[in-house]
Amino acid sequence: MSKQFDVVVIGGGPGGYIAAIRAAQLGFQVACIDEWKNAAGGPAPGGTCTNVGCIPSKALLQSSEHFDHANHHFAEHGISAKDVKMDVAKMLARKDTVVKQNNDGILYLLKKNKVTFFHGRGSFVKTTEAGHEVNVAGKAEEVITGKHIIIATGSNARALPGTPFDEVNVLSNDGALRLGAVPKKLALIGSGVIGLEMGSVWRRLGADVTILEGLPTFLGAVDEQIAKEAKKAFDKQGLKIELGVKVGEIVNGKKGVTVNYTNAKGEAIVLDADKLIISIGRVANTIGLNPEAIGLQIDERGAIVVDGDCKTNVPGVWAVGDVVRGPMLAHKAEEEGVAVAERIAGQHGHVNFNTIPWVIYTSPEIAWVGRTEQQLKADGVAYKAGTFPFLANGRARALGDTTGMVKFLADATTDEILGVHMVGPQVSELIAEAVVAMEFKASAEDIARICHAHPSLSEATKEAALAVDKRTLNF
Ligand code: FAD
Ligand code: NAI
Repeated sequence: MSKQFDVVVIGGGPGGYIAAIRAAQLGFQVACIDEWKNAAGGPAPGGTCTNVGCIPSKALLQSSEHFDHANHHFAEHGISAKDVKMDVAKMLARKDTVVKQNNDGILYLLKKNKVTFFHGRGSFVKTTEAGHEVNVAGKAEEVITGKHIIIATGSNARALPGTPFDEVNVLSNDGALRLGAVPKKLALIGSGVIGLEMGSVWRRLGADVTILEGLPTFLGAVDEQIAKEAKKAFDKQGLKIELGVKVGEIVNGKKGVTVNYTNAKGEAIVLDADKLIISIGRVANTIGLNPEAIGLQIDERGAIVVDGDCKTNVPGVWAVGDVVRGPMLAHKAEEEGVAVAERIAGQHGHVNFNTIPWVIYTSPEIAWVGRTEQQLKADGVAYKAGTFPFLANGRARALGDTTGMVKFLADATTDEILGVHMVGPQVSELIAEAVVAMEFKASAEDIARICHAHPSLSEATKEAALAVDKRTLNF
């Protein structure tokens, strides 16, 4: 007889391992299956996020930012740093260490919570009276059964038709995070989150970076005023972003990659680059899962179909994270994982899609929660807006980074906060206050009346809230 569990989680990324831990906390017998291998072939749970996503990208963003500061900003502090060099191999090794610490941390957490970890690929076999059978193909093969299954198999980079990733010249996020040397000329297709973060890393290290974006607008999902401010900063840094292009033939040759495209003016351009990163979004991953075996419904984009509670069409089978609809963010996957474990336990787990924060870890950082000004206009909502520039914030001046602003959007009648948008230093941390405020249905005045430490960047948040009522104190 196969090993029997209350809950079997397929996928050990942020959606999966967090669901497994929460289910174990709730008293269930839990298994978590993950197939990711480290360089030595051992288990490396944490998924895209830990291995080739959030964590390694932030490690490289940090290293490259230090390098950029040493080269361009130390002097204004009176520090002379001549002949600053970047040892790319060492930077990558540090990144790998950070990744491994996270992999090991997750293995420890699973063990601590008595989750049985299986290293291998999980695929559905059949549904029986005891539950759903899942074959685990690792070093050995075995079948385990779960009364409940949580699928958290994540996503993969979307390729451009006719241009497969070789991870040598044509790179997905995977190859983009382990380039052995700084390319002289780097091209990217897609100026979304990965394009901007990865473009920033390699530009700071000295690459001549061109990002080709198909849409005519820059960061269309971001509040227009914030996106405009960010674009200004990226232009100043020398990050070349071409909007409204149509990418044509791509030739992956011995010496590099040639991208033929038509620019917004309709001119045909030939762009030669040493490396090309394709960052045009991601596709849900059900490779090897054998969903047909249990009749699992998949939509036309390859995502597993779920309802608002993450239930699939098969009773007892749930799905969370990048493999289902909604934003492809680690914290969204985690929240869904927790909510599903709690629902299995008969509780009322809940994910509030209106208060999921977004952060782009460029310099300046971009962060937001709630609706943008253009969305409020489109929805016909009467709103008030208040902005406060970091230029007028004492801490930002002391830091030497006064780019950007904080912007509040509040209901014109009730003053309830509808959206908070930020571009500037460390806004990845500042956005948390706005998320809390929105969860508690705070008004802009609530934030304006709260004492914020001085001098701190968070004072810009308070001042932007005051600006909604046209009564900033420092601007
Ligand atoms: P994943 O993290 O993809 O995990 C899925 C896991 O399931 C993998 O380990 C995979 O090996 C395993 N698996 C798949 N199929 C099977 C199977 N059949 N059997 C066993 N195991 C299987 N999000 C943020 O919120 N913040 C960021 O800063 C951020 N930065 C990013 C940077 C990059 C470059 C990329 C690519 C993504 C980034 N993301 C970020 C997005 C984030 O990584 C994803 O939203 C998140 O990882 C999704 O979690 P998940 O658990 O759904 O899937
Ligand atoms: P994205 O959806 O953020 O951006 C893709 C961009 O490519 C879009 O601007 C789109 O218009 C453009 N595009 C699509 N097809 C194109 C084409 N044929 N030619 C030119 N441009 C084209 O996707 P990205 O950057 O690949 O990232 C995937 C996801 O990973 C993100 O949506 C996000 O969910 C997650 N992520 C999150 C991060 C964070 O939270 N900081 C960091 C990196 C990734």
